[in-house]
Amino acid sequence: SLFRSVKTLAARSSAARGFASESVPDRKVAVLGAAGGIGQPLALLMKLNPLVSRLALYDIANTPGVAADVSHINTRSEVSGYVGDDQLGQALEGSDVVIIPAGVPRKPGMTRDDLFNINAGIVKSLCSAIAKYCPHAIVNMISNPVNSTVPIAAEVFKKAGTYDEKKLFGVTTLDVVRAKTFYAGKANVNVAEVNVPVVGGHAGITILPLFSQATPKANLPDEDIMALTKRTQDGGTEVVEAKAGKGSATLSMAYAGALFADACLKGLNGVPDVVECSFVQSTVTELPFFASKVRLGKNGVEEVLGLGPLSDFEKEGLEKLKPELKSSIEKGIKFANDN
Ligand code: NAD
Ligand code: LMR
Repeated sequence: SLFRSVKTLAARSSAARGFASESVPDRKVAVLGAAGGIGQPLALLMKLNPLVSRLALYDIANTPGVAADVSHINTRSEVSGYVGDDQLGQALEGSDVVIIPAGVPRKPGMTRDDLFNINAGIVKSLCSAIAKYCPHAIVNMISNPVNSTVPIAAEVFKKAGTYDEKKLFGVTTLDVVRAKTFYAGKANVNVAEVNVPVVGGHAGITILPLFSQATPKANLPDEDIMALTKRTQDGGTEVVEAKAGKGSATLSMAYAGALFADACLKGLNGVPDVVECSFVQSTVTELPFFASKVRLGKNGVEEVLGLGPLSDFEKEGLEKLKPELKSSIEKGIKFANDN
């Protein structure tokens, strides 16, 4: 796990510094929106990841300070800060993984789709730059609404002739993180052992946790499963309301984003059996993009795994989410082609 790699870091980093490490390949990670609420703790966590050799921190403001601060941490990666449009190319060049938490977060009363008008344009311009400067990078899209920003990214890459469906990921790891936490609490099992797939998309009812497949098994009553499902679907809103106007999840998201980027890096490095849920191009349902378990490898997506057996409650949830997810996907595609 990420935490384990962080704990072995002190030992490894002294070995890695000054020596060419044979077993750990060089990997450059860029964070776009690195001075933001997610970006800063995500930059910290990526600086702690021994799989990273270069860490590029980009934002439209304040990155020099964040980069100077993070760069003093005595771990493997070399940190550089980039600010403003004319430094974006340099930030991206040579990147293996680009993580995008750039954009505005929700305030109480807003849906993720209410962010579309601002964030769609931000994502589109960042993706144009990715197509130009690091067309082969793996992209981890965090900016909301993920159900639309991932299709926007795909269209931008298609137009640029660089689209590789194996390398574009909507980050839904926070839904899995939440489902695991809430399930462990309710089932009274060790949270470190819990697994729960979460499929569909990343907004409200499009978030479909599959508690029927949760392990360790707990045989919770139906009303508990319904409450856990709702809490997972509304997890983002729970944080937005608690922050009362000061934004949405940043710390748990940075953790989730770091976990997913670590999985991508492990996949690139040839570590076998790396499986995470993510919102990707998919044939699992009739929708062109869908979140499900994905096996990660040297080229990004190695295999999009199916949904597995669903309970009647989950089957119902799946049918209910499709119209909303479909229209969010279409909205993203339309935006990219009209603008
Ligand atoms: P924030 O406002 O604290 O930070 C966003 C950062 O993006 C700011 O530093 C801003 O300067 C920067 N930015 C804006 N335009 C940019 C551009 N063109 N290029 C580079 N950087 C740019 O917001 P936050 O709390 O960090 O959230 C960021 C996004 O992540 C939001 O859209 C939010 O909804 C989303 N989010 C997604 C998930 C998820 O599970 N996928 C979870 C939490 C938040
Ligand atoms: C989350 O799930 O926490 C994020 O998508 C942010 C939000 O707006 O809820």
